[in-house]
Amino acid sequence: MTHVRFKDDLGPRIKELKKKRNAVILAHNYQLPEVQDVADYRGDSLELSRIAAKTEAGVIVFCGVHFMAETASILSPHKKVIMPDAGAGCPMATMLTAEQLRDLKQKHPQAVVVGYVNTSAEVKAELDVCCTSTNAVAVVNALQNAPEIIFVPDKYLADYVSRQTGRALITWNGFCSTHIKILPEDILREKKFHPRAKVLVHPECLPEVVAMADAALSTSQMGKYVKQTDVREMIIGTETGIIYRLKQDNPDKEFYPASERAVCPNMKRTTQEKIVQALETMQQEVRVSDEIRRRAIRAIEKMVQIV
Ligand code: 13P
Ligand code: SF4
Repeated sequence: MTHVRFKDDLGPRIKELKKKRNAVILAHNYQLPEVQDVADYRGDSLELSRIAAKTEAGVIVFCGVHFMAETASILSPHKKVIMPDAGAGCPMATMLTAEQLRDLKQKHPQAVVVGYVNTSAEVKAELDVCCTSTNAVAVVNALQNAPEIIFVPDKYLADYVSRQTGRALITWNGFCSTHIKILPEDILREKKFHPRAKVLVHPECLPEVVAMADAALSTSQMGKYVKQTDVREMIIGTETGIIYRLKQDNPDKEFYPASERAVCPNMKRTTQEKIVQALETMQQEVRVSDEIRRRAIRAIEKMVQIV
């Protein structure tokens, strides 16, 4: 007879180490279930940065991707921010360097520069204002007097914001390599299988996909939408990891991934084992230099002011 070996639940060990280190565990909504299960807080990029700024804990264990941990370090310079796997990066964030942005700014000296939070700290240091997918439309709407607006790096989020606000935006050729895997035919197929379902997509999706959706929402906005609606079935057009949380919070509703291929490999690098290791060794630290931090925080504070 073959024995099925279950993975050890390291939850109790993590709890013990968290206490010893005075640490808090933050996990993005796309993280593996085993990571979400041991997190103190789950959320989208905006919610997690707010929690990072407010927490009393001396150590933040960031389970997400590198730019999110950097943002936590920018907001909480006196705290130690560690990532269980600092190799978890966001491909979109690497599609725009600070030098490339400086060149773009030189070509449009009048423009106000809005940057998605999915950027490196060096790029944030070049921005006038930061935004997340939750507040990108509100941020651009607040810039009524700007003669021109640069919006980087995600061309698809820029397209969505431009349609919502009626503003022409100067964009960059960045995109999310996971969200572009969701295709119009995926939505058509799922709608055929689930004709009563609402279609919710992330604004990082292709414009053709966004056009077919009932709503384009950030991950936290999806969480709220799903709780409030009377509709019981939802086709979810974003990274599939969010479905674990949606189902936990709404056990009476059904969620269908628009595409099983929408998996962000970087978001899946963090595991319970790596969290234990991070808390034992207090590695791998993510720290932003003071010079960059001072410049980058202005753009984040401007965003908070606006929204
Ligand atoms: P949210 O801010 O909506 O959680 O999005 C973060 C992200 O990386 C989306 O791909
Ligand atoms: Fe980056 Fe896309 Fe992964 Fe989000 S889902 S972290 S935007 S690659």
